[in-house]
Amino acid sequence: MIEALDTLFRETFGELPTVVARAPGRVNLIGEHTDYNDGFVLPCAIGKQTLAAVSARADGMVHVIAADLGGLKTSFSLREPIAPSDAAPWSNYVRGMVHGLMADGLALTGANIALIGDMPQGAGLSSSAALENAVGLALAALGGRADIDRTQLALLGQRTEHDFAGCKCGIMDQLASARADEGVALLIDCRSLDATPISIPPDLAIMIVHSGITRGLVDGEYNARRAQCETAALHYGVAALRDLVDVPPQETLDDLAYRRARHVITENSRTLAAADALNAGNAAKLGQLMAESHASMRDDFEITLPAIDDLVALLQKAIGAEGGARMTGGGFGGAVVALLPGSRVDEVTAAVRASYQTPSGLTPNIQIEKPAQGASFLR
Ligand code: GLA
Repeated sequence: MIEALDTLFRETFGELPTVVARAPGRVNLIGEHTDYNDGFVLPCAIGKQTLAAVSARADGMVHVIAADLGGLKTSFSLREPIAPSDAAPWSNYVRGMVHGLMADGLALTGANIALIGDMPQGAGLSSSAALENAVGLALAALGGRADIDRTQLALLGQRTEHDFAGCKCGIMDQLASARADEGVALLIDCRSLDATPISIPPDLAIMIVHSGITRGLVDGEYNARRAQCETAALHYGVAALRDLVDVPPQETLDDLAYRRARHVITENSRTLAAADALNAGNAAKLGQLMAESHASMRDDFEITLPAIDDLVALLQKAIGAEGGARMTGGGFGGAVVALLPGSRVDEVTAAVRASYQTPSGLTPNIQIEKPAQGASFLR
């Protein structure tokens, strides 16, 4: 991809980029909708990624071109307040990162930016976090801060989602994409932001099955879940649901908020248990925890869809006690993650292809992933 990016950059801006950075997408193994409740998540970075190439300008302008979007372009001035754009909403991730970096003191005099990537969008694999981190890292280097703290980079990405994209997301996606390491998942404590590497047993394959149902316009549902969790935390007098280890009695809390809280509280303990199961190489336990996680997302948090439930059930049946499967990411479509012995990938792939069709009647896209390195420089 880097050659294609260089070519696009030269054709657009008449020079080669001075910095090229990359950042990966992520798949969450378990711990869903726990991050904004100060809880635990267990993601790893994947091979799909976004690349950002940049060079400096002296005229206070930022020019952006996106190869993935058929060469869409946009421009904005650093001499005016930076705000989200209705005309080019795809560029709001770039605008948000520029805004955040400069508010943080980064000296930018203008920039040319070209973007390329192989991330599927709306698949629940955090293409927007990959974009934020790649652009943020490249621009930080342009402003002389190549050593920007990766947690700080992730926090700027989260702020971008809140203020420029309207999604009140947690920190998981940005942190996983910024700080992941090869070969391991990260057990992240979303309160302290400490991340513990958890090795994935080498004989365990990570399979991502795309349901073909893209997540569209679901930020409203996401933000509503977050508000329901906050209602429950307030009711129980805790700073966040993370502070409840056991599911408390319902008391006068309404049924909806109670079920949302029950998902988060049980999901936190499942996530910690899953890290233990991975450490112990206990695939059967891992599978059981993934099944419970999916059921909790379906029944208590209500973020799955019938077609996704069927796909997960199909995978669980095919894999048996040698691993597990669950929906991954924010919900309402996107991808399913499965962990299974590498030796059984072909057989399980065939079983899925034989029985699941995407809404447009196609066999689903299936990828096998190895935990990848977080955001880094290519040049
Ligand atoms: C989205 C958000 C994350 C997290 C997940 C659900 O990916 O961006 O912060 O809340 O949903 O676990």
